[in-house]
Amino acid sequence: MCGIVAYIGKKEAYPILMKGLHRLEYRGYDSAGVALINSDLVVYKCKGKVSDLEKFTVNKNKTGTIGIGHTRWATHGEPNDVNAHPHYSGSKNLVLIHNGIIENYAPLKEEMIKRGHVFESDTDTEVLVHLIEDIQQRENVDLPEAVRIALNNVIGAYAIVVLSKNDPDLLIAAKKSSPLVLGVGEEEFFVASDATPIVEYTKNVVYLEDEEIAVVNRKGKLQIKTIRNQEITPYIHELQMQLEAIEKGGFDHFMLKEIYEQPRSIRDSMRGRVHVDKGVVELGGIREYMQKFVSANRIIIIGCGTSWHAGMVGEYLFEDLARIPVEVEYASEFRYRNPVIYESDVVIAISQSGETADTLAAIELAKSKGATIIGVCNVVGSSIARTTHAGSYTHAGPEIGVASTKAFTAQVTVLTLMALAIGHKRGMISETHYHELLSELDSIPAKVERVLKLNDQIKYLASIFKDARNFLYLGRSYTFPVALEGALKLKEISYIHAEGYPAAEMKHGPIALIDEEMPVVVIATKGASYEKVVSNIQEVKARKGKVIAVVTEGDTIVRKIADHVIEVPETDEKLATLISVVPLQLLSYYIAVMRGCNVDQPRNLAKSVTVE
Ligand code: F6R
Repeated sequence: MCGIVAYIGKKEAYPILMKGLHRLEYRGYDSAGVALINSDLVVYKCKGKVSDLEKFTVNKNKTGTIGIGHTRWATHGEPNDVNAHPHYSGSKNLVLIHNGIIENYAPLKEEMIKRGHVFESDTDTEVLVHLIEDIQQRENVDLPEAVRIALNNVIGAYAIVVLSKNDPDLLIAAKKSSPLVLGVGEEEFFVASDATPIVEYTKNVVYLEDEEIAVVNRKGKLQIKTIRNQEITPYIHELQMQLEAIEKGGFDHFMLKEIYEQPRSIRDSMRGRVHVDKGVVELGGIREYMQKFVSANRIIIIGCGTSWHAGMVGEYLFEDLARIPVEVEYASEFRYRNPVIYESDVVIAISQSGETADTLAAIELAKSKGATIIGVCNVVGSSIARTTHAGSYTHAGPEIGVASTKAFTAQVTVLTLMALAIGHKRGMISETHYHELLSELDSIPAKVERVLKLNDQIKYLASIFKDARNFLYLGRSYTFPVALEGALKLKEISYIHAEGYPAAEMKHGPIALIDEEMPVVVIATKGASYEKVVSNIQEVKARKGKVIAVVTEGDTIVRKIADHVIEVPETDEKLATLISVVPLQLLSYYIAVMRGCNVDQPRNLAKSVTVE
């Protein structure tokens, strides 16, 4: 978490940094700060959001063609002005911004305190900038070399940018386990946690690898070396991202825009991969690994949060369509519980950001045991996308709202394609059903479009239930992960306590919570367990719970017993997730808006969870 941005060139740095920080704010918004070199090296920073920093800098000298900026998600030290980045070195000649955690900061700090260093903040970051200066002075080396030596002495994760008053024509950036992208312009460079602050200035980017240090200067010189002093030839990628994709485009919030983008993003996840007429599913990114999949004795799916929910849908799909046993694991649990992993296992790692620290660590573990790792990531060039053996991008486009919406449906779409392709190759699906599912999948974007037309009805329901203190979400089979996802969406953006349960599990405990105050969202679309879910609704109603049911268009049974029904288009049960999750996203969105919550930046959260 934390977003970092830096600029060196001929333009004024401040507006570039501020625009960049706004785009990176999804990564954390506990505090924000910038450092600029003009006649002096100045640092402006404060607790709060980037907009608070903008107010703070009114009437201050913001000139300078070199600068760095940071938006923080607090780890070490509470969110306050002092702990905000950038951090100064002891002499105040150096400043540094950091995303990650310096794990051995405590012994380093102790050692330096003994040598007379005085620290202002509680952060691990301040220790690193002091260490760099300490090395510079003790070993009499230049700044890039001091940074290199310092990084050899730290344990942990970092993406950093260093700026020096004495070297006003130089920016130094380095990374390990936290992302960093370098934008290469005409005699100007940009550095950022992702490409969004860069895209409008240049399409040429270099993704720094772990333990690489980039030194750039005003004359357009770029040098990359590792912390072990090996020279690296930079590989320049061309960015595919479009500027419109990272702007709100007339919507009040990114989350709403992203919910509305789903007909397109689901289509984009399939584009070029599905040929309904020919009955072909072709996932180019995993072509070479198809045989591994086809002969796998087991698939393990790892992810966190919403990506884990998509993984659960993947489990049902692979078991149903390809008849391969699947285990779905929280990456954070998997990595620490000594799991049994075989070389024949195929591990699917799902991550929107491609930077989630727990998922990355789980991948490394599975890799070390010889398993084949397949990524399902959204962010192109992200760490997970690069560390996996192969993978399929979800192509949902940038997701900026902290609550994941279009990334979920894109992940489920890609997993559906994988399960279909593998099931077909393994001969586990009848030709007829295979073709039916392909053409049904093709119709999903249009059906999601129809769900979005229910916007006003869902907004009305939100107005009825916005003051509830608890919510229960129930689903069964393919819609159980939808219940989990619906509950997660609600709690993370509206701060209402919500639980997702398999509908039949309700009577093993949660039923005790039900009274006339309790809204229960039940996904009761047509499928094998429809009748059972109807009975579960009866059980809720018998205890006076308020039922909001998501049903298939034309349903007459649930309509008679539920308090409210949301009718969604009919589809095959295996694809129901893609449709039934959409009204739940909208319900959470409107409840949060009506409660006055910050929908795109919910408290305590960040979009890219790069710490354990
Ligand atoms: C919820 C949400 C999170 C993420 C989780 C994993 O709306 O966004 O639960 O799904 O932090 O993130 P990625 O997918 O980037 O690995």
